[in-house]
Amino acid sequence: MNSEQNSERSVATEAQPGNKSWQTNKKMKLAILGSGFISRFYAESLVAQRRKDTIVSVYSRTEANAKKFANDYGVPHFTTNIQECVANKEVDVVIIGLSNDMHLEAVLACAAAGKHVLCTKPLGRTAQEAIQMLQAVDKAGVVGGYLEDLCYTPKFLKSLAAVKAGNIGEVIWTKSRETHPGPHSDWFWDKEKSGGGCIIDLGCHCVEISRNFIGKNIKPVEVMCWADTRVHPIDAEDNAVGLVKYENGAIGQFEVSWTFRGGMDLRDEVMGTEGTIWANNFLRTGFEMFTSGKGGDYIAEKAESNSGWLFPVGDEVHELGYNHMFTDMFNAIDNKVQPAETFYDGYIVNAILDAAYLSAKTKNWEPVKIEDWRGVTEEKIEKQLTSYDADYYLIKEEVLPNGDKKVIIKHKITGSIERR
Ligand SMILES: NC(=O)c1ccc[n+]([C@@H]2O[C@H](COP(=O)([O-])OP(=O)(O)OC[C@H]3O[C@@H](n4cnc5c(N)ncnc54)[C@H](O)[C@@H]3O)[C@@H](O)[C@H]2O)c1
Repeated sequence: MNSEQNSERSVATEAQPGNKSWQTNKKMKLAILGSGFISRFYAESLVAQRRKDTIVSVYSRTEANAKKFANDYGVPHFTTNIQECVANKEVDVVIIGLSNDMHLEAVLACAAAGKHVLCTKPLGRTAQEAIQMLQAVDKAGVVGGYLEDLCYTPKFLKSLAAVKAGNIGEVIWTKSRETHPGPHSDWFWDKEKSGGGCIIDLGCHCVEISRNFIGKNIKPVEVMCWADTRVHPIDAEDNAVGLVKYENGAIGQFEVSWTFRGGMDLRDEVMGTEGTIWANNFLRTGFEMFTSGKGGDYIAEKAESNSGWLFPVGDEVHELGYNHMFTDMFNAIDNKVQPAETFYDGYIVNAILDAAYLSAKTKNWEPVKIEDWRGVTEEKIEKQLTSYDADYYLIKEEVLPNGDKKVIIKHKITGSIERR
């Protein structure tokens, strides 16, 4: 992979007008490592929605879980041995849905077997783990796709296209929030196994969302982060807010919590010199339902209630980006190019989160340490100030309630601020 391939993201999904990817689509034969929550979401997208591809093998730690997953999704082969699953001759691509502490081992096994590998988020528990995975796929010459689904939601893809088309001008500040009442499996709560708390678990999404809006070519330089353990009896943080500063001056803010009540709150904001984007991806998306509590219990991921006024999600697999994500991954493999989200992106996210953890401890801005930077170096910031006339810059124009128009300007040489 070269820096050019990594720098410009183009998602060739079926939703893009003019995309003829169906002409080249090969049916992928897949293996899935893991049979838990995310592996089931992936299988719903792959088997129940995309349909072209087949899962030919599944690995799980216990035979009972492997067998159940195989039965549920019509998978012909199951095993409790990772090597056996990965090395299966039929398998083109391996999808990793294992706990964070297993990602490195699983990726190294895939690279050694020469298989394309798609790994869920976060890529590593640390940048040190992530770079080993990146180097392994680069050396093996296989695609390393980073399964960052929230960078493939329909709203995200449209927002990013608007930003790239210049609809909101230069991006000054982005804000991405993911908060919910806490994860669903024991290992998430164990700092050693997960690599941390809500920063590593949810912050990885927010950071990559902001990176896309600000520009993946722009180097993240430093991070300031507050983190605390407010509610749960754990060693890791259950609440955090961070600011990631980029070389062009842009700020990517993340807000994450494992103690938020009321469901899963996924919101993004992008503030630019010519416009603004607000996207609410999950709660309060315009679909509201009242029930006395009779009927099924499942409303949406992390919903805390099944009665009263509720906020269901129409099609979670689609709204959370899984369909677009896999389409992009497989099209990239078909066409021998990189997908929009790669192991390199996963590595940069880990490097940013490492700095966030350090900052939360030191209470200082901490540098983002990147061993292998493939984007623009020393981004030149050209401030484009708007002229009012030959002598003045325009600061602000506003029409007041009485209809008066105020124009505030600044003299280009003396700097004096005046009103017209
Ligand atoms: N939106 C997303 O992209 C998203 C959402 C949820 C989880 N995830 C990620 O998916 C991964 C799995 O999370 P999950 O929610 O499916 O968790 P889960 O607990 O439901 O499933 C974890 C899987 O890993 C296996 N596993 C755990 N420890 C293992 C070990 N020591 N050896 C072998 N197998 C082991 C379990 O048996 C299970 O199959 C994590 O990396 C998580 O961050 C991503």
